Amino acid sequence: MSDLLAVILAAGKGTRMKSALPKVLHNIGGKPMVEHVMAAAHMAGAKRKVVVVGFGAESVETALGAQAEYVVQAEQLGTGHAVMQTAACLQDFDGTVMVLCGDTPLLTGQTLTKLFAEHQAQQASATVLTACMADPTGYGRVMRDHSGQVLKIVEQKDAAPSELAVNEVNTGIYCFERTALFDALRSINCNNMQGEYYLTDVIGILAKDQAKVWAVQVDNAEETLGINSRMQLAEAEKILRKRTLVNLMDNGVTIMDMDSTFIDSQVCIEPDTVIYPFTWIEGATTIGRGCEIGPSSRIQNSSIGENTILHFIYAHDCQIGNHVTVGPYVHLRPSTVLADGVKIGNFVEVKNSNVGECSKIPHLSYIGDTDMGAGVNIGSGTITVNYDGKKKHRTIVEDGAFVGCNTNLVAPVTVGKGAYVAAGSTITKNVPSEALGVGRARQSNIEGWANKENLVCVKP
Ligand code: UD1
Ligand code: CA
Repeated sequence: MSDLLAVILAAGKGTRMKSALPKVLHNIGGKPMVEHVMAAAHMAGAKRKVVVVGFGAESVETALGAQAEYVVQAEQLGTGHAVMQTAACLQDFDGTVMVLCGDTPLLTGQTLTKLFAEHQAQQASATVLTACMADPTGYGRVMRDHSGQVLKIVEQKDAAPSELAVNEVNTGIYCFERTALFDALRSINCNNMQGEYYLTDVIGILAKDQAKVWAVQVDNAEETLGINSRMQLAEAEKILRKRTLVNLMDNGVTIMDMDSTFIDSQVCIEPDTVIYPFTWIEGATTIGRGCEIGPSSRIQNSSIGENTILHFIYAHDCQIGNHVTVGPYVHLRPSTVLADGVKIGNFVEVKNSNVGECSKIPHLSYIGDTDMGAGVNIGSGTITVNYDGKKKHRTIVEDGAFVGCNTNLVAPVTVGKGAYVAAGSTITKNVPSEALGVGRARQSNIEGWANKENLVCVKP
């Protein structure tokens, strides 16, 4: 098997997106569209990926980092010109060059694998991936002779009426033998309607030179949808989202309502987990077996164990264990770690805190910068006072402590193992293990106060 290298064209601005962001960096399924193309090329066996950058080159390089090599096309003079820029970079490469566009995020690794396999089986100099479209407007048309042999590709703007009638189009995806590609590129020119150097002309040049030019038709034309506008971005997002959901369902996950469930393509969910409606699961998130997620939840970059229930919550950058119950109306902020069996109830916010096994924060609390042991009970309305206006301080609540309702824990402070805090306390000093901390004014009752003469309130 010969070596495979991918060249991804991504120098264009994407004028119709009307965006300051280069087109290929627009997100779809939770990552920049060009990353989907890179992933598909990777699946097909391309070890090296060379991205041709131009508009917004720096931001593309920053976004993709070391997973690609970069070649700059300073002026966008056409797809052929773009590939020419890679000549030096590919000089020592001996194998097949797969050329892709950065704006076709629906492309699958299977299709590219098939394209490469056929290219090799045919020992072709060039193999083009084509698609048959009901409405081929805008695409280059694939011209074949009576025996089906590919002759050339004609761009929409250069096509004669008889050529426009052809509905087999060029998807802009090809395999080339490196030497054949760069030899042919030397012969292209910009004598066409757009005044551009067309990569597509390479096909005609090779065919004329009796080199073997082959074509593979894509099974599902949807895969090659190129994104040129926000409208197409939304269409592609929908298709990709459905693909992700179907894949999850095939693997044993229940999705109650596909129309209101948004799951990024890189999310992993184990079987027998149920996703309720109006739920977003994004980024590097993993969810174990037997969980109930949603309704109305948003989970980003978090890992969730097994048999955990998350109802009406927003969690980001968190770690949640097994048999945990959270919600409704809970905000779990970054660096929150909930151990197994934890229960977080209504209207609670937890930030940058560790909550130990089977501890409970059932109602109306803010817990920030806290290390909480196991079996702790936090009474309703308890607040960690973690910020003095300049610095954040930590609160420690040790195993089995019981914090009464409406307590302020003024950090830095420790509530010892098995200690109690009286309801309504403002705790500013450490509470030793097993002690009762009381930090509130003592109640006194003034007898007959309501009948005092100076009382202004009008009695019924
Ligand atoms: C191209 C093909 C057309 C095909 C269609 C499929 C040519 C001449 N035409 O047309 O046959 O049907 O794709 O979608 O190749 N790019 C650069 N540098 C440039 C020009 C383009 O990097 O100088 C990049 C763009 O960023 C884009 C890709 O190449 O990712 C395709 O360019 P685009 O202008 O969209 O080509 P089409 O007109 O769609
Ligand atoms: Ca295009």
